[in-house]
Amino acid sequence: MKVLSVTSELYPLVKTGGLADVAGALPLALSSHGIETRTLLPGYPAVMKAIRNAVKCAEFDDLLGERASLLAVKHEGVDILVLDAPALFDRVGGPYVDPNARDYVDNWKRFAVLSKAGAEIAAGALPGWQPDLVHCHDWQAALTPVYMRYSQAAERPSLITIHNIAFQGQFSADLFPGLGLPPHAFWEALEYYGTLSFLKGGLVASHAISTVSPSYAEEILTPEFGMGLEGLIASRADDLYGIVNGIDATVWNPATDEHIAATYTSASLKKRLANRDALSARFALDNDPGPIFCVISRLTWQKGMDLLAEVADTIVTSGAKLAVLGSGDHALESSLMNAAARHKGRIGMIVGYDEPLSHLMQAGADAILIPSRFEPCGLTQLYGLRYGCVPVVARTGGLADTVIDANEAALAAQVATGIKFASGTADALRSAIRRTVRLHNSAKTWGQLQKQGMKCDVSWGRSAERYAELYKRLVSKGQ
Ligand code: ADP
Ligand code: GLC
Repeated sequence: MKVLSVTSELYPLVKTGGLADVAGALPLALSSHGIETRTLLPGYPAVMKAIRNAVKCAEFDDLLGERASLLAVKHEGVDILVLDAPALFDRVGGPYVDPNARDYVDNWKRFAVLSKAGAEIAAGALPGWQPDLVHCHDWQAALTPVYMRYSQAAERPSLITIHNIAFQGQFSADLFPGLGLPPHAFWEALEYYGTLSFLKGGLVASHAISTVSPSYAEEILTPEFGMGLEGLIASRADDLYGIVNGIDATVWNPATDEHIAATYTSASLKKRLANRDALSARFALDNDPGPIFCVISRLTWQKGMDLLAEVADTIVTSGAKLAVLGSGDHALESSLMNAAARHKGRIGMIVGYDEPLSHLMQAGADAILIPSRFEPCGLTQLYGLRYGCVPVVARTGGLADTVIDANEAALAAQVATGIKFASGTADALRSAIRRTVRLHNSAKTWGQLQKQGMKCDVSWGRSAERYAELYKRLVSKGQ
């Protein structure tokens, strides 16, 4: 089966979060199920630089008034199709924002053009290769199923995956004429309280909807988590699937990881000490045996980073230490920097995005703290499980689905893998920190938690199988 995946991020070429990791790893995992994926992504400067040997395979004269070419290349095992449209994607800055962290004003057009290119490929624009199914990720690719629905081409099934319903691609309704869709598409698919919502369009027009954990699939049916789209999603409940993310177990493997000071397995956990020392040095933390919590995160309200700043004193008074790597909201950055300045040797903070350092942190910290208010899946707890860095997580979305709390029964049954607490309050986070420190005091219990976590299968295996089954069902339904 041939599948076109449409995405705005792809590890290792361009990444702002977990979407890139998923878009990069899933095609590799699906290949053993007989699924041949080609991944369409924009030609950002970093992408163009990395794919110098790419071959032009199609040209578009008029994608919403833009000229673009399509370049094909295999990169780190993934077959990619790069949409080279310099007027839209050759920019200094990130994939979505300019160097001042402001959204590009033409993001609506940039991602409508990406989506339109996806629909053209679905309709046969690429000589010799036409997908049997199109898999779109998030709002940036959400118009692909809309263009597919309103085109004359024979219909192919489409699946949209919601990685985070908080990001919907909402724009002024005045822009609708620029999308090149028939007028009735506005009310039938895109209209959202008088504005345009790209994500809504994708949810209406795609054949099936998935999200990245079973719990989040339930949560987005409720007003608390559905962010205004819960009614629409409920109306499509029969086509809604929750499939938990996996991780690329070759990129994230403590036995072979080149970014860490000492490689190890669950049978040689003592070797983690060298990583712990390297981590302490990087974050200027004291060398006492108190547990080190790490945080590797976008600094946002979603991730509960305001709560983290509130509990900084508790971390220190309970004898623990904290190493934070992150960037994002400037107010959150400075409150965490203040905490680090108040507690030298106990709290260290590095502002920025640093992939190799994130590996060292998982390999050297004792626990990874994830106090998210909502979390569609979350990947850092999965990396933590694999690295013996015990996840301490809010009980929400994919965090709830992937960690087994160290309550007495689970400890006795030797199945516990981490610590869970109620999301959204500093008090619950404080007690989780104290509980973690108590568990860490018993070397035997802690070692058990680490080993049980490392035994979990967090690879793509089972989840890739579920995607493959879903693809096959959608394709056979369409025939
Ligand atoms: P989200 O996509 O919502 O940000 P995930 O947990 O799914 O959350 O994925 C985040 C990904 O980004 C993980 O691979 C994590 O290691 C990485 N990451 C987040 N912040 C940083 C950072 N400051 N430096 C390096 N990697 C980071
Ligand atoms: C989003 C979510 C995160 C998820 C990631 C990959 O960024 O916030 O929870 O793990 O997508 O699916």
